[in-house]
Amino acid sequence: MQDLLKGKKGIIFGALNENSIAWKTAEKANEQGAEFVLTNAPASIRMGNLEVLAKKTGSQIIPADATSIEDLENLVEKATEILGGKLDFVLHSIGMSVNVRKGKPYTDPNYEYSKKGWDVSALSFHKVLNVLYHKKAMQNWGSIVALTYMAAQRVFPDYNDMADNKAYLESVARSFGYYFGRDFKVRVNTISQSPTPTTAGNGVKGFDGFINFSEKMSPLGNASATDCAEYTISLFSDLTKKVTLQNLFHDGGFSNMGVSDAIMGKFE
Ligand SMILES: NC(=O)c1ccc[n+]([C@@H]2O[C@H](COP(=O)([O-])OP(=O)(O)OC[C@H]3O[C@@H](n4cnc5c(N)ncnc54)[C@H](O)[C@@H]3O)[C@@H](O)[C@H]2O)c1
Repeated sequence: MQDLLKGKKGIIFGALNENSIAWKTAEKANEQGAEFVLTNAPASIRMGNLEVLAKKTGSQIIPADATSIEDLENLVEKATEILGGKLDFVLHSIGMSVNVRKGKPYTDPNYEYSKKGWDVSALSFHKVLNVLYHKKAMQNWGSIVALTYMAAQRVFPDYNDMADNKAYLESVARSFGYYFGRDFKVRVNTISQSPTPTTAGNGVKGFDGFINFSEKMSPLGNASATDCAEYTISLFSDLTKKVTLQNLFHDGGFSNMGVSDAIMGKFE
């Protein structure tokens, strides 16, 4: 299908480098005719190569720390100005655990790190929604998506405090999504994505085991970053107007599996 997002305007958070899910989503959104602003934390913009993506997609970059209401207000004001109107879609593709980065185990975290990780990975979504809501920045029948992982529902030990952050994020999508639906006919959903080799993904201890296990468990195999981008485009398009308050598993079937032949084979 072509031009699924023709004439649509949006903001894409979280493209760090070409492996990022947000990067692939920006490329796909551009292919489908969307116009958007790219944003990331100032330090991440310095570390990554967002300029390359901006050039490729004809987009402007507006730095914003997603934990700062002031930055988010500036971002939404500038983005609507640059794009010349309200927004049709927003992607929140942000995650970071300080405890994971510093090697603190789940059973003995540094609670200051926990708070910071929660602010970045979970509360930031509430802040983004808050600013969009109060600025009435979303177009009717627009779509907001955040990315999550199944450790919100099931135990994956090395996912550490990100499991709790994702559970919070998914709850925010439902709770704030109600008000967005009621007041603006805007939908809010989370996509629960397979393990994906990105900077954030590779930061999880034992990631190789993680990704290989789910590949063997899922009847369709793991969903790649590009697959995730395509699914996200469908949620931004007018083909999914009545989907809201959902946590949508995009994982090749992993979330409903008990065991697969491939995994059984390893134990027989
Ligand atoms: N990679 C996986 O295995 C996987 C699986 C399921 C869900 N996810 C989720 O997908 C999303 C995108 O992650 P990714 O895998 O593409 O990795 P990534 O490392 O490429 O993206 C994470 C992004 O978060 C941004 N970020 C961190 N702190 C920020 C802040 N204060 N303000 C604004 N942005 C900030 C980073 O700069 C980076 O661009 C995350 O929510 C992640 O939890 C990833």
